[in-house]
Amino acid sequence: MQDTPAANAPVEGARPVISATGLFTPEHSISNAELVESFNAYADRFNKANAEAIAAGEVDALAHSSVEFIEKASGIKARHVMAKAPVLDPETMAPRWDERGDDEISIMAEIGVAAARQAIERAGRDPADIDAVLCAASNMQRPYPAMAIEIQQALEIEGFGFDMNVACSSATFGIQTAADYIRSGNAKSVLVVSPEITSGHLNWRDRDSHFIFGDVATAVLVEAVDIAPAQHWDILGTKLKTVFSNNIRNNFGFLNRAHPETSDAPDKLFVQEGRKVFKEVVPMVAQMIVEEAERLGIEPTALRRMWLHQANAGMNRLIAQRVLGHEASEDESPTVLDTYGNTSSAGSIIAFHLNCDDLSDGDTGLICSFGAGYSAGAVFVRKAG
Ligand code: COA
Repeated sequence: MQDTPAANAPVEGARPVISATGLFTPEHSISNAELVESFNAYADRFNKANAEAIAAGEVDALAHSSVEFIEKASGIKARHVMAKAPVLDPETMAPRWDERGDDEISIMAEIGVAAARQAIERAGRDPADIDAVLCAASNMQRPYPAMAIEIQQALEIEGFGFDMNVACSSATFGIQTAADYIRSGNAKSVLVVSPEITSGHLNWRDRDSHFIFGDVATAVLVEAVDIAPAQHWDILGTKLKTVFSNNIRNNFGFLNRAHPETSDAPDKLFVQEGRKVFKEVVPMVAQMIVEEAERLGIEPTALRRMWLHQANAGMNRLIAQRVLGHEASEDESPTVLDTYGNTSSAGSIIAFHLNCDDLSDGDTGLICSFGAGYSAGAVFVRKAG
């Protein structure tokens, strides 16, 4: 850690860049066909068990899900999960693993560390030279001690760490926070880790949304340009925006004891008004991108690539169209949604991680996330080296 400068004073040479990224992908994947087979078996069991109440009009029968609908409505073909068998078991339909002792690394920290190690290795960074760890994700495994501090300890990083949650925008909000530490001279190297075990807050029994999410972990190493590797991504500018909305909501929390599996409490898991989200978020995000590009003196139509949040292929198509002025090709706006599903805040980072090596020195691109809150974050980057 270097000495803290006077508050808000710009620091010479403290330009933030992305030095490297890392990705952890769970071994197991669930195809739409496997998912739908399991859901339909659950629906059949439910309808059989409730046959009398359904016949009396007291309970609604559950309709079957369909592979065709899922792919057409969302673009998702498969998703990775940390625990496949219990999610697909029509009796369970939730992830399960043995609870770990306090002296063992927690599951969220473990996958965060795996992604972080890859970013650290790709940057050629010694963990002793990292100043801070931010764990930025849409849900934390526990309130405290912070996941970030557990990750920090596992990586033998000195300095400090803390958790932050801005739902699907957590990673981009984390990048701006890290960039601000660099800009102010409070840190030289900040690790932003996003372990997203979304299978734990998805309602696998809800036909409208059971196909949406997947598990993953990403890491982004944000550093001052003077210590960064020769090949890096200059952060040209960042922009964050939030507007309150109940259209994506999860009421689970420490003040309510009712757990969705012990009571009929679906609101303690992810719920959304998907159509409204689609309609309201697309214009909000497109406008934010165009305005921020203008402020930075970047011609939006000249963006070489957009690594967009991975929630819905149709939303990304519309946003890219409004920004670029034409239908984006897969090269201009790559998709990872098809194999990863919606991985909450990690989605745009996976898209960047898997689709950035082929760009050339001087190419400009945009990492952009959006989701619950509503929240949206944009990180404009330019390849150097
Ligand atoms: N299988 C078959 N049919 C299904 C289904 C399923 N799993 N789920 C819903 N349907 C049916 C509905 O019952 C409805 O039938 P109806 O027209 O007879 O009433 C029809 O399909 C349309 O449902 P709707 O929910 O309006 O679908 P949609 O086209 O809006 O797609 C989403 C749903 C969730 C994929 C889409 O709204 C979306 O992705 N929105 C944005 C979500 C987002 O980004 N969220 C952020 C999360 S972080």
